[in-house]
Amino acid sequence: MDYVQQRVAQLASNTDTSSSTLFTPLNGLLLAALAYTAYAFLLRPSPPPQLPKEEPAIVFRTFTPRTLLPYNGEGGKPVYLAVRGRVFDVSRGRNFYGPGGPYENFAGRDASRGLASGSFDEDMLTKDLDGPLDTLADLGESEMEALRGWEERFEEKYLVVGKLVAAGEEEKEN
Ligand code: HEM
Repeated sequence: MDYVQQRVAQLASNTDTSSSTLFTPLNGLLLAALAYTAYAFLLRPSPPPQLPKEEPAIVFRTFTPRTLLPYNGEGGKPVYLAVRGRVFDVSRGRNFYGPGGPYENFAGRDASRGLASGSFDEDMLTKDLDGPLDTLADLGESEMEALRGWEERFEEKYLVVGKLVAAGEEEKEN
């Protein structure tokens, strides 16, 4: 009987010991680490998902010589020019067509006649922005050939962002 009592007392004291060892500094640290991990993975609000950056959408627009005019690259705006009714975004070639560039005269304009004739003269550009488009009807075969060459180059290098029509024609287009 003595033995049994002794054994019970021993077991009881063992239990005491084990429950007191539960609260050691190491266990405290582990518990803190576990709590932090749970917080980090489960509770902390995750940052909003980042969508991949997309190129700005290109909206095909109808321009008239007047509405094309502002696209001359000033103030960091895009640079557009038109060749035979097609408006090209030549912003990539800002060094050529942007402000101070060698071909800035074409920026925001119908560049067809100037390119065909290899001339930067002012009278190559449509004077009356609200009048009819330049039909290029008086140009010769070699000039038209030169113009086709420029068009091919632009097609490879730049995006078409719209069409150029005479003022008053845009309602019919939209
Ligand atoms: C003195 C004569 C000229 C010289 C020395 C010259 C020189 C150049 C050079 C070095 C380039 C760059 C080519 C490249 O890196 O792709 C260039 C581009 C160009 N040139 Fe001329 N050029 C002359 C006359 C002209 C004329 C008369 C026109 C038309 C009116 C013209 C229209 C262009 C255009 C539109 C581009 C840029 C094409 C693009 O956007 O990639 N150039 N020129």
